[in-house]
Amino acid sequence: MYTTKISGVAHYVPDNIVTNNDLSKTIDTNDEWITERTGIKERRFAGPNDSTSSMGTRAAERAIERAGIDKSEIDFIIFATLSPDYYFPGPGVLVQEQLGLKEVGALDVRNQCSGFVYGLSVADQFIKTGMYKTILLIGSELHSGGLDMTTRGRGVSVIFGDGAGAVVLKRAEDGEEGVLSTHLHSEGKHAEELALIAPNTKRWVPTIMQNKDPDDISYFPYMNGNFVFKHAVVRFSEVIMEALQTNNATISDIDLLIPHQANLRISQFIQNKLQMRDDQVYNNIMRYGNTTAASIPIAMSEAWEEGRIKSGDLICLAAFGSGFTWASALLKW
Ligand code: COA
Repeated sequence: MYTTKISGVAHYVPDNIVTNNDLSKTIDTNDEWITERTGIKERRFAGPNDSTSSMGTRAAERAIERAGIDKSEIDFIIFATLSPDYYFPGPGVLVQEQLGLKEVGALDVRNQCSGFVYGLSVADQFIKTGMYKTILLIGSELHSGGLDMTTRGRGVSVIFGDGAGAVVLKRAEDGEEGVLSTHLHSEGKHAEELALIAPNTKRWVPTIMQNKDPDDISYFPYMNGNFVFKHAVVRFSEVIMEALQTNNATISDIDLLIPHQANLRISQFIQNKLQMRDDQVYNNIMRYGNTTAASIPIAMSEAWEEGRIKSGDLICLAAFGSGFTWASALLKW
């Protein structure tokens, strides 16, 4: 059986930096509240020329360059996002066009904050079975266009940012390690605790417009923050331990944990609970906010650029989010 290696990782974030103080000009919020509750100091908001697919394509171009491959070698695309350019089709096909790839398959993953790890798991299965040799996996989000940027939406809108990350996954050469295992979970009874409800098959845009109900804010994301927080800290810890136990490894074996950047307080809670050192956990939510499916590949790319990921390192990825879904992956870099 083959294994899957990450042979190139990169990210793209828009230039436009939006600080907490910038948000406080239009929303009744402040730097102190946001920093204390989330750790976020600033985030990026997309410009007029950015889209979810174009940011993903920019990240992918860099990842392909770093992998040292020709784009013609890519034989499958996986795109994870909750903020697609179009309601349908998904952005995977747009990347195929934007990158000028041959007519390879493009799969869109709808698992929100766990989307990148779910996508990695899917790619790993294709590579392990020998169906594909080189897969491009992208996580990209353009949240800023769809947030309620008034005080009404402040519990959600101050948390999210835009950006993209991408990896090139290759079939490992003999003797090389790579993705050791992936672990996927869901619990749909909590679907509406963190969700964007409309448009949906019962409430399409024309219905919303006709009803003109000022209290209908179903087209903005909703989050039950306390509820999400409490579930996240439990599920993150469980799924990290599941990955370690599967591979007979312990917390001290992890060289770097890259958690989905949901909230700095969640990462710190997990770090304390699992008694991990600062150098074992990577956080960059301070600079980008929560970028959902893009957060792990953006963090992985920055960690790699900073020299915090080296060949042979044991890397753990873990995510939790809307669904609820949660997931982890353990890999030998
Ligand atoms: N600025 C200022 N005040 C705000 C605010 C903002 N951006 N957002 C909410 N508040 C206010 C609330 O109105 C409330 O005021 P009140 O006490 O007068 O009613 C108060 O702050 C506390 O709100 P609450 O929602 O209870 O805060 P919290 O401590 O739970 O923190 C979150 C809110 C969202 C930061 C926190 O619940 C959280 O991080 N949850 C996890 C979210 C997450 O990680 N989501 C992503 C998962 S993928």
